[in-house]
Amino acid sequence: MYNVHPLTENLTWIGASDRRLKLFENHFPLSNGVSYNSYFIDDGETAVLDTADDAVLTQYFENLVHVLAGRKLNYIIVQHMEPDHCAGLAALANKYPEAKIVVNNKTITFIKQFFPVATNWEDRFLSVKDGDTLQVGNTQLVFAMAPMVHWPEVMVTYDATHKILFSADAFGSFGALNGNILNSQCDMKANLNEYRRYYTNIVGKYGMQAASLLKKASQLEIKMICPLHGLILVEDFPFIIDKYTKWATYVPEEEGVLIAYASMYHHTENAADILATALDTHGVKNIAMYDVSNTDCAHLVAEAFRFSHIVLASPTYMNELYPQMAHFIASLKSHALKKRKLAVIGNGSWAPQATKVMLAELEPMKDIEILGSVEFLSAINEEKKAELEELASKIAATLS
Ligand SMILES: Cc1cc2nc3c(=O)[nH]c(=O)nc-3n(C[C@H](O)[C@H](O)[C@H](O)COP(=O)(O)O)c2cc1C
Ligand SMILES: [Fe+2]
Ligand SMILES: [Fe+2]
Repeated sequence: MYNVHPLTENLTWIGASDRRLKLFENHFPLSNGVSYNSYFIDDGETAVLDTADDAVLTQYFENLVHVLAGRKLNYIIVQHMEPDHCAGLAALANKYPEAKIVVNNKTITFIKQFFPVATNWEDRFLSVKDGDTLQVGNTQLVFAMAPMVHWPEVMVTYDATHKILFSADAFGSFGALNGNILNSQCDMKANLNEYRRYYTNIVGKYGMQAASLLKKASQLEIKMICPLHGLILVEDFPFIIDKYTKWATYVPEEEGVLIAYASMYHHTENAADILATALDTHGVKNIAMYDVSNTDCAHLVAEAFRFSHIVLASPTYMNELYPQMAHFIASLKSHALKKRKLAVIGNGSWAPQATKVMLAELEPMKDIEILGSVEFLSAINEEKKAELEELASKIAATLS
């Protein structure tokens, strides 16, 4: 049975949620599923913005058939060709052969790669460029290219008549939609962790491109933001824009210290605990500590975007870093994290390498200041405890 959600007189949400999915992109843990949002414009003519993931296509088509009520579909707008939004594109295009497929040139290439049948769609493509407009009955749409937010072909769509921004993956979040689909009905601030975890892991690497989209958006009058995942945003724009701007420009959200440690036999953990206690002695209030073996890397990456200071502590493992720590540092680098103050703690029993490897790994990262390092053999003694306390005092002195 169809399950749709009218948003305005001319706009209906026709997406669906997947609460069975455990790993988004087969990789990021989901605790409460994810939604695939698709939108239907009905204003004299008809248009859909994107389709949905394979997992929810049956529901998606029931929704679309219901809102169309036997009428013609005029336009299929493809904002992002990633299969979580376009798995249903070939089926949709075949079902409604009269519909024009609104894309940009890059999207056409991707569509043909994903759907060989699309080589027959040449006369159906309506290719648009940045700033081009399309009239869907009484609604005027303006297209803006947003390359790499999250794929190269991404474009967003502004409904200039009703002041609605269809933002593709931007402003999205993990989490299924549970009846209340406006952020005015849900405590979005309580779910901020999921917004941060989604943005930083999915789009975080492309901060410059995300910042340029935010700049474009800030020049528009916007009453509603319709992303492809998560809640539809109708209020709290200054709060939301402030968060996204910080994430996109790598400005730490909070002054505080993230301590991420690896440890097999608790000695490196003990060093991390001693450092944390010393930070407390210096009046540092905002401290988060994670065992990298027990915390998913996507959560650690999101926390790294949140905090101004990061301490990494790892034992040496077969002449290298402990594997989960190596993975975390590689993730920080691949997400282009910058503008942070870091310190490292390394441990080893016969030929310690951890400190050296961590410092070498962090060295090429941009706008990273290393505040200091402590290296110890096997377990912390009084001398090393004093070094950790000295490091804590340096860290505290650079916190505002
Ligand atoms: C499988 C394995 C490989 C290790 N490889 C090294 C190494 O290459 N060099 C070294 O100095 N210590 C090595 N160690 C020793 C640990 O780094 C050291 O005992 C450290 O104190 C463990 O810290 P933890 O108590 O926090 O787990 C290794 C330990 C294990 C279990
Ligand atoms: Fe995407
Ligand atoms: Fe997506």
